[in-house]
Amino acid sequence: MSETNSRYTNGSPAAQVPAGTPQAPAGGRSGPRHVAIIMDGNGRWATERGLPRVAGHRAGIEAIRRVVKACPELGIEILTLYAFSTENWKRPRDEVNALMNLLVEYCRKEVDELDRNGVRIQVLGRVAELPELQRREVERAVERTRHNRRLILNLALNYGSHAELVDAFKAILARVLAGELDPSQIDEQTIAAHLYTAGMPDPDLVIRTGGEYRLSNFLLWQAAYAELWVTPVYWPEFDRCHLEQALAEYARRERRFGGVPARGR
Ligand code: IPE
Ligand code: IPE
Ligand code: MG
Repeated sequence: MSETNSRYTNGSPAAQVPAGTPQAPAGGRSGPRHVAIIMDGNGRWATERGLPRVAGHRAGIEAIRRVVKACPELGIEILTLYAFSTENWKRPRDEVNALMNLLVEYCRKEVDELDRNGVRIQVLGRVAELPELQRREVERAVERTRHNRRLILNLALNYGSHAELVDAFKAILARVLAGELDPSQIDEQTIAAHLYTAGMPDPDLVIRTGGEYRLSNFLLWQAAYAELWVTPVYWPEFDRCHLEQALAEYARRERRFGGVPARGR
């Protein structure tokens, strides 16, 4: 069992659970370690105010600032933000350009403060396909903050679960063809170890703002047993209070991972 998954072993002597199977975190922890957010509703927020959609994306950066600040204070160790999907390229060129410019601006303006606050930036997605400038700025921010330990901030950029699985399967196949891996050894851990999130615990809680009840190609493998929380609040209005509401709801949920309810044990 990998180091990551061993943290999830509940130690029950009866449990003969296959490696990689999601289980309850040890130690009766009530808060999520890893929160992932589908930051949706920027465009609608702006349109309802008679503003261009890009004004919503800009306002969304303020929300990112608030949430990143709140996370370590609320005991969250990993925050994953869905910032740009592999499907978002189909938006009008002006909007895609505006989002790419905001990404550079975010990296340049925020990195000092993120670094001071102990935030380690990582990227999930096909970073190599980002335009050169964006790729360079993102890699610089990752490099600059790599020693930090207070919060891991995963930016999902040019991210899609289907693309991630394709990349993982290709990497696994390459290892098989190189004679490093026997196909009979491939298990759930092998797949997890080839995802962009390799070595990280799965998200415990997935939040979606903007009111839609869908995952939009986000962390399909990793969120297999995540608790879901949807709010109609548009992302630019999301603040610490909303995050606290989500955490309070999470604490009331009983995660069973396929087992039986506590009262039925
Ligand atoms: C989310 O807000 C930000 C990105 C997808 C980059 P949207 O731009 O999707 O906002 P709505 O859903 O159109 O309101
Ligand atoms: C999901 O939002 C992607 C991000 C938040 C980056 P979308 O607005 O792209 O999702 P759909 O199109 O409503 O499913
Ligand atoms: Mg949207």
